[in-house]
Amino acid sequence: MRQPIIAANWKMHKLTAEATAFAESFLPLVQDSNAAEIVLAPPFTALATLGAALKGSAVQLAGQNVYPEEKGAFTAEISPQMLADLGCRYTIVGHSERRTLFAEQDDFIARKALALLDAGIRPIVCVGEHLEEREAGRIEEVVGGQLRGSLASIPTGKASELVVAYEPVWAIGTGKTATPEMAQEVHGFIRKELSERFGASAEEIRIQYGGSVKPENIADLMEQPDIDGALVGGASLDPTSFARVARLQRS
Ligand code: 13P
Repeated sequence: MRQPIIAANWKMHKLTAEATAFAESFLPLVQDSNAAEIVLAPPFTALATLGAALKGSAVQLAGQNVYPEEKGAFTAEISPQMLADLGCRYTIVGHSERRTLFAEQDDFIARKALALLDAGIRPIVCVGEHLEEREAGRIEEVVGGQLRGSLASIPTGKASELVVAYEPVWAIGTGKTATPEMAQEVHGFIRKELSERFGASAEEIRIQYGGSVKPENIADLMEQPDIDGALVGGASLDPTSFARVARLQRS
């Protein structure tokens, strides 16, 4: 059985005081729920503050990005060890905004995923097609290529620590969610690719859906066999709405 995992990607939102206020409102709303493992990925600048506010709770801390070296002359970058030092258990890599706005390529994302695992942090590896690619019938080519490239260096022995997030780019921040059936079709394909790559361990890898997830659609998405959780942007900024998603509750 894969434990559902619901993660908040705050992107470039929230100052430290706002992160603390979120935790104060959010924690009481989820403390009696074991519906899913809950993860919060604030900006780097709020990690320490939010980590302190989450102490003693079951909610996990995550980074939104990482640089795949332990230390060195890499101005402004953050290493896996620095994230681990602040208590991060997970870190997002290969988000479509990084791929599109910062031209990140699969081989760089693969280095990040491996560096995270080596530091004891579980990578959340994002994949997903653009609308033109979907309309051109290229979903499997694009998502399959991203998966093979981004997971190239992961040893099979560590595969079960991976989380994959399928985020169709056209559904991010647009209010247009993939239907549960559309999402399942791609999640099933991802599971098949993972099993070709990692064998039986693929059954343990959690695959999140991301793209306009909210309280109104989480329960239907979670009914699909290969949807094991969600990576949530906009609806994760408000404690009440994210608590509903994390409890896997219809509003
Ligand atoms: P939205 O939930 O705002 O569509 O963002 C999804 C996302 O990019 C999470 O990483």
